Amino acid sequence: MNSPTPIHVALIMDGNGRWAASHGRERVWGHTNGTESVRACIRGALVAGVRWLTFYAFSTENWGRPAEEVDALMELLCDSVVKEAPELRAQGVRVKVIGARGGVPEKVRRHIEQIESETASGEKLTVVLAINYSSRSEITRAASQIASKALTGELSPVMITEQTLSDQLYTAPMPDPDLVIRTGGEQRLSNFLLWQAAYAELYFTPVMWPDFDENHFNEALAEFARRERRYGR
Ligand code: IPE
Ligand code: IPE
Ligand code: MG
Repeated sequence: MNSPTPIHVALIMDGNGRWAASHGRERVWGHTNGTESVRACIRGALVAGVRWLTFYAFSTENWGRPAEEVDALMELLCDSVVKEAPELRAQGVRVKVIGARGGVPEKVRRHIEQIESETASGEKLTVVLAINYSSRSEITRAASQIASKALTGELSPVMITEQTLSDQLYTAPMPDPDLVIRTGGEQRLSNFLLWQAAYAELYFTPVMWPDFDENHFNEALAEFARRERRYGR
């Protein structure tokens, strides 16, 4: 019997730009409005007893967007961290960030470190923000780290298992996602958690991210509860 509530839900928050355009506004306005959807999912996760909630906030490929949009997204990240930290702490939420941290602007890095330390004692729910995240880069980095260990003799190639690779990923201590939700109508993973989502249930909705609310989140959980996970057996 599958667990009716997923332990780990991962979200690809997509559709901000199109949502803004449909309201005759700039793309950045969509990103700003998307923060309310993040809060809604956190509320829903806390009520349902989901233990891990991962948000795809910025992909490594997203650096290819116009500078004004990238700058606005980085500012929004910093502002949200400052604004949300007290409530997250009060709710028992711990925040963790995954991705290539060295590649984000110094100011954003400081904010990331600040919210991680301010919320470190949260035990109800871990909110994971994927920032400058690319699943292929993550796996490549893991392979490189394993090769280094093999070279120094710390690890023998015949001893390498799936767990060895998992242990080198940014997500190392986290359980794999049970459910991956993508808003905005596209049906692809866009380089998100490719290794970790091997047996995740995928849920695609046409709802644009800024419109995605707690009810939509609960609908996805209800759909998850109806799925039968067979793991090839
Ligand atoms: C998702 O919305 C937010 C990020 C990728 C940072 P988009 O900005 O991709 O919005 P659309 O997909 O262009 O509508
Ligand atoms: C995926 O959305 C990345 C994030 C949600 C951060 P994109 O809008 O960047 O993905 P594509 O370009 O549609 O694949
Ligand atoms: Mg998009």
